[in-house]
Amino acid sequence: MGVLDGKVVIITGGARGIGRAYALGVSSQGAGVVVADLLDGSPVAEEVAGSGGEAIAVTTDVSDEASTAAMAAAAMDRFGRVDVLINNAAMFSETTRGPFTDLTVEEWDRTFEVNVRGVWLCIKAVHPHMAAQGSGKIINIASNTCYKGTIGFPHYVASKSALLGLTRCLANELGPDGITVNTVSPDLIPNPDIRPTDATSDPFVVAGRALRRTQEAEDMVGTIIYLSSPASDFVTGQSLLVNGGAFFI
Ligand SMILES: NC(=O)c1ccc[n+]([C@@H]2O[C@H](COP(=O)([O-])OP(=O)(O)OC[C@H]3O[C@@H](n4cnc5c(N)ncnc54)[C@H](O)[C@@H]3O)[C@@H](O)[C@H]2O)c1
Repeated sequence: MGVLDGKVVIITGGARGIGRAYALGVSSQGAGVVVADLLDGSPVAEEVAGSGGEAIAVTTDVSDEASTAAMAAAAMDRFGRVDVLINNAAMFSETTRGPFTDLTVEEWDRTFEVNVRGVWLCIKAVHPHMAAQGSGKIINIASNTCYKGTIGFPHYVASKSALLGLTRCLANELGPDGITVNTVSPDLIPNPDIRPTDATSDPFVVAGRALRRTQEAEDMVGTIIYLSSPASDFVTGQSLLVNGGAFFI
């Protein structure tokens, strides 16, 4: 028995990294899982199945409207409902970093296509199903960098900051449909396999945190389960930082 028994959760960008932890976490609470990613999400879906859960993998480009519609349709075909959408897919690990003057228009635009337009399109795709159910929960993943103004990738920080406004705006518009919209912002969660440079930046980030240790993907999972569950039914339009008490000095 779990707090998400009978619920269906779509996780964009669920094929690796923090999204994988969300998939395993919500499944452990009884949810059916849709792993929607440009990458092959089958290994994560198999991992979920191996631990006794139910999951499908749907190849999805969140920046493409037909693809996000197909993602929602696949969830409905397999599970017959959509209760939670976790907008986790992003241009992040692959984003270029450096002086803002070195950024190209193409890099700027692709970041916004995925990180902002992609979130809007995924919400648009699931909205009819959630509205028909009279319930739904949308969780947008932003970033601690929005609050910190982290130097080196302004396209990413600006794109994630847009989600804070989108969250408030859509919380107001979708509230009458019984749908909540919230944002969760992680701090740096190193993944040495994908971003080797984080091994050097992590000690500096850890020193600026009330809880002075490395943040792990699993540190995000409890908040995601809470925002996916009935325990958060009266919480909407909020932005929650899960950052170990990062202080911005
Ligand atoms: N890791 C961190 O330090 C950190 C900190 C703050 C916020 N975040 C955010 O948390 C989320 C997950 O971070 P992560 O470290 O696991 O990132 P990651 O780069 O490892 O994973 C992102 C996932 O999104 C997928 N993706 C990218 N473009 C896509 C598209 N167009 N359509 C579908 N899927 C696409 C990728 O294939 C990948 O599986 C991201 O939104 C990121 O911005 C991460």
